[in-house]
Amino acid sequence: MREEVVLITGANGEIGHGLIRYLSGLNYTIVAIDVNPLDRPLRSLVSKWIVGDILDQILLGRLVVEHQIRTIYHLASILSTKAEYNPETAHRINVEGTLNLLRLAVEQSQWQGSPVKFIYPSSIAAYGLETLDQKNQVGKVKENEHLFPTTMYGCNKLYCEHLGRYYSKHYRQLAADSAAGPSVDFRCLRFPGLISAETIPTGGTSDYGPEMLHAAAKGTLYNCFVRPDTRLPFMVMPDAIKSLINLEAADQEKLSRFVYNVTSFNPTAREIFEITKKAFPDAQIDFEVDQRRQKIVDTWPADVDDSAARQDWGWQPDFDQERAFNEYLIPAIRKQYMETENH
Ligand code: SER
Repeated sequence: MREEVVLITGANGEIGHGLIRYLSGLNYTIVAIDVNPLDRPLRSLVSKWIVGDILDQILLGRLVVEHQIRTIYHLASILSTKAEYNPETAHRINVEGTLNLLRLAVEQSQWQGSPVKFIYPSSIAAYGLETLDQKNQVGKVKENEHLFPTTMYGCNKLYCEHLGRYYSKHYRQLAADSAAGPSVDFRCLRFPGLISAETIPTGGTSDYGPEMLHAAAKGTLYNCFVRPDTRLPFMVMPDAIKSLINLEAADQEKLSRFVYNVTSFNPTAREIFEITKKAFPDAQIDFEVDQRRQKIVDTWPADVDDSAARQDWGWQPDFDQERAFNEYLIPAIRKQYMETENH
C-alpha cells in the first residue's frame, strides 16, 4: 500500500515554511518539492524532499506512482515584480506548472478512486483597478469585481483560478465517462500581501511591508519603493496558514465558490513606517518611490471583501493590525535578529 501524503510545491517559499512547520506538528506525511534543496531546518519535518521543477512531467509522473497524494498545496510561483522581468518564463512556471499539477491530481484521483484536494493560493494581483481614484473610491472589492490584472503574475493567477474550476467541474466534459464525477477538488484563496516574521519574500510588489520591518530589525537602511499613502490589504503568515488549513478542511457542501478573498488589516505604507519606527527607533527608512512598481500597487485594491469565506467556512483572522505587529511580528523579528547577532 502506498503511503498517503500531502504534496507541497514551492516548499522553500514563505508559505511553504509556515505550512510545513504547521502540518508536521500534526504528524502529516509531507512530500516537498522545490527547485532548490529544501532549507535545512525543514528537512527533518518532511518525509521526503525533492529538488525538481514542476515543468518536469517525468518527475511528476513518478510522484503519482510512488505516493498516494490526498492533498496538493501548489505554492510554487514567480511573484509579480520578478515576473515582469521575464514574463514568458513566469507564464511557463505559473501556468504550465499549475496545469501539470492539475493533471497530476487527475491521474492521482484515478488511482485512488476519489477526488484529490488541490489548494491554490491566488492573489490580490488578480484584480486591476483602472485609476487611483477608482482604487480610493471602490471600498472592499468582491471576488467577481475588477478582474483586469495588469501584471503577468496577476493574469497567470486569474487564469489558473479558471483552470482549477475547469478541472473540478468541466474536465473532458464530452468524454463518454464524464458523468463519473469530479477528480479534482479545487479550492483557492486570494491572498493579500503576506508578512512573516521568519522569512522575507522574493520578487513581490507588496514586499515593502515585510522588507521595511526586517531591515529595521537588522539595522540596515531601507528605501521604501511606494508612496507613504499607498494602502494595501495584508495578513500575517500564521493567518495565511490558518486560512489554507481551514479551507482544506471545509465541508465541500458548504463551499459556494471556488475562489475566496481572505484578509486581515490594510495599513498605508506610512502606518507601517510609523509602527516600525516606534518599535525600532534607530531604523533608517526613506521613501524612494519606484514609479513603475507604484503603478502596479495602485491597481491592487486597498481592501477586499472576505465575507464569503466568513460565511461559508467560518474564516476569521486571529491577528488584527495591533496584534499582528505587537504580539507576532515585532517580538518574533526582534528575537530572530538578536539570535543571529549572538551567533
Ligand atoms: N505578494 C504578491 C506580490 O507582491 C501579491 O500576491 O507579488
